[in-house]
Amino acid sequence: MTEYNKENLFPARITERYLLNKEGSSKKTYHITLDLTGSNITYRAGDAIAIFPENLPEDVNALLEALDMCGNEEVTDPRSGGIMTLEHFLKTKVNLIRIPVPLLKQAGDPKLLENEAKEARAQFIASHDLIDFFQMHPTDLPLQELISYFAPLLPRFYSIASSPAVSPDAVDLLVATFSYKHGKKEKRGLGPHYLCDTAAMHTTPIHSYLHPTPHFLLPEDPATPIIMIGPGTGVAPYRAFLQEREAQKATGENWLFFGERNQATDYYYEAYLESLKKKDFLSLDLAFSRDQKEKLYVQHRLLEQGDKIWSLLSSGAHLYVCGDARHMAKDVTSALHSIIETHSSEDPKIFLKNLRKEKRFLLDVY
Ligand SMILES: Cc1cc2nc3c(=O)[nH]c(=O)nc-3n(C[C@H](O)[C@H](O)[C@H](O)COP(=O)(O)OP(=O)(O)OC[C@H]3O[C@@H](n4cnc5c(N)ncnc54)[C@H](O)[C@@H]3O)c2cc1C
Ligand SMILES: NC(=O)c1ccc[n+]([C@@H]2O[C@H](COP(=O)([O-])OP(=O)(O)OC[C@H]3O[C@@H](n4cnc5c(N)ncnc54)[C@H](OP(=O)(O)O)[C@@H]3O)[C@@H](O)[C@H]2O)c1
Repeated sequence: MTEYNKENLFPARITERYLLNKEGSSKKTYHITLDLTGSNITYRAGDAIAIFPENLPEDVNALLEALDMCGNEEVTDPRSGGIMTLEHFLKTKVNLIRIPVPLLKQAGDPKLLENEAKEARAQFIASHDLIDFFQMHPTDLPLQELISYFAPLLPRFYSIASSPAVSPDAVDLLVATFSYKHGKKEKRGLGPHYLCDTAAMHTTPIHSYLHPTPHFLLPEDPATPIIMIGPGTGVAPYRAFLQEREAQKATGENWLFFGERNQATDYYYEAYLESLKKKDFLSLDLAFSRDQKEKLYVQHRLLEQGDKIWSLLSSGAHLYVCGDARHMAKDVTSALHSIIETHSSEDPKIFLKNLRKEKRFLLDVY
């Protein structure tokens, strides 16, 4: 039994980190191994790990300057009660992007505070960060009161891409980096930037805890067929499932629908997946969206394979969807509706609802 949890974080170390995309790719997604030796953390294939990233030193320094503070000031973390320097607090505990509305109300532009200014407030928050805010609105609130308004830095979750049967003391992760515009600033995704670029291999403690996903586990009976749908980083838990099913010598069919941008550069874990396919342990359907003029997505492959999907579902298969929640999961669900409509007179929504009740339609989308 581990003593580590959300309140008592384990300092894991990165022991392996490499880019999964090949040269010429438009993406940078990394394979990362976090060593958990000594934590007594035991995980199951399908679980996720939570990590707390740290803010960039240049952002912390810019905020200290905007607050006219040096960083050595002592503060009490309002949430944990821990005493620390302001610099450490800003680095590890605060969301430096989000301007909380109560802070805006305490120290902001009075014009933004009028009731009818809701839209303007939302726009201001969407295009400014805490640094901008204090540069525009110097504050004389007492420091301890001021920091009580700051939004907390929340943990980031990553699906574990390894099975405990293969890696009992470590977890593999698949982490996609990206940048995005926030107002006039170009920002990098904090969790990915921390794990993939800033944290030093072997030395930086990655403060972590296990995030079990009881809603996303393998069937108990290894003879049960599984259909796994996971483009992009959605493939991560399926690598764990496949390692686990190999260890179980599972006899049930394993079928994966994976997609990314380009086959030549973005086919994650190609050697492993192709080796499983070669030994008839895995059926593989691939959808590379940018290898042709028209977009090709996993749901197009699902529709092509509708008859076989229906037949496997009818024989008790478990159906998994993992990855992007905003577009992919919705479009995949629509494709499943079409397949169900073709083969059954039952309302597809009710069909999938029942499948979920039976814990045979499992989603882990974000
Ligand atoms: C259960 C669960 C499992 C997850 N598993 C994985 C996983 O295996 N691999 C993985 O990489 N992520 C995974 N995620 C997402 C991960 O937790 C982070 O949210 C993700 O890495 C983005 O980093 P961030 O939250 O620090 O971004 P922030 O720095 O907080 O970024 C915030 C902004 O970036 C936007 N944004 C978020 N993602 C992207 C993107 N890809 N491209 C452009 N803009 C973006 C957001 O909309 C937001 O506006 C998972 C999430 C959950 C809840
Ligand atoms: N907030 C944002 O702006 C934003 C943007 C991107 C990703 N994300 C999040 O970041 C996470 C990580 O992204 P990722 O690197 O794993 O890759 P991803 O963005 O999920 O892309 C993986 C593959 O899925 C394709 N795809 C795009 N839309 C799709 C759809 N509606 N249905 C099926 N497939 C679709 C992509 O194609 P194309 O790219 O060629 O269309 C690509 O080939 C995702 O889960 C997502 O939630 C957020």
